[in-house]
Amino acid sequence: MRRIKIAVLVSGGGTNLQAIIDAQKSGILKSGEVSLVVADKKEAYALTRAENNNIKTAVIVKKECASKAEFEEKIISTLEENNIDFIILAGFMQILSENFTKKYANRIINVHPSLIPSFCGEGFYGLKVHEAALDYGVKVTGATVHFVNEIPDGGEIIMQKAVEIMPGDTPETLQKRVMENAEWIILPRAAEIVSQKMLEEEK
Ligand code: GAR
Repeated sequence: MRRIKIAVLVSGGGTNLQAIIDAQKSGILKSGEVSLVVADKKEAYALTRAENNNIKTAVIVKKECASKAEFEEKIISTLEENNIDFIILAGFMQILSENFTKKYANRIINVHPSLIPSFCGEGFYGLKVHEAALDYGVKVTGATVHFVNEIPDGGEIIMQKAVEIMPGDTPETLQKRVMENAEWIILPRAAEIVSQKMLEEEK
């Protein structure tokens, strides 16, 4: 059976990558398969998670490229060499240019750790998002999976899940709850929805 070939782009621990791999094993993700993991950091633990699951990896470091354009061209050629259909940004801490996002229009999704349009856009990533939510004093936050276009965190929303903020929460405790109760659930589900749609469009 044909499956959509997925590349997951990562920068860090890769718990969202792990959730996608686990979803593939349990059958939640069945229309697509992760065939490549691309990291922009050599030390990203996500690379070890990929290797443990026999998934091909590539490392492309921005600082080792002459420009952002060269960095993106290297990623694109790696994706093309591996016949990638669909890209998932899972804790990938780079903003992709319009040149990149146009090339893969409706074929890139991202998970963001807040309920967009709150606490999103340039400068809002990782723990900073949870710090901002706690500083503002919101009582509910969550996660969003959305298509990626040229506006940071501005593409069409695919799925969201709310998470309550508890008294005494720190950015770290909140990050953990948002990951466990929202991100790791909605990212694999959204990956299946988009993969299934892509397969249908091929018919
Ligand atoms: C996740 O919380 C993800 O939503 C966030 O970084 C973390 C990566 O964790 N992404 C962003 O903030 C993107 N703007 P992981 O490497 O364990 O999946």
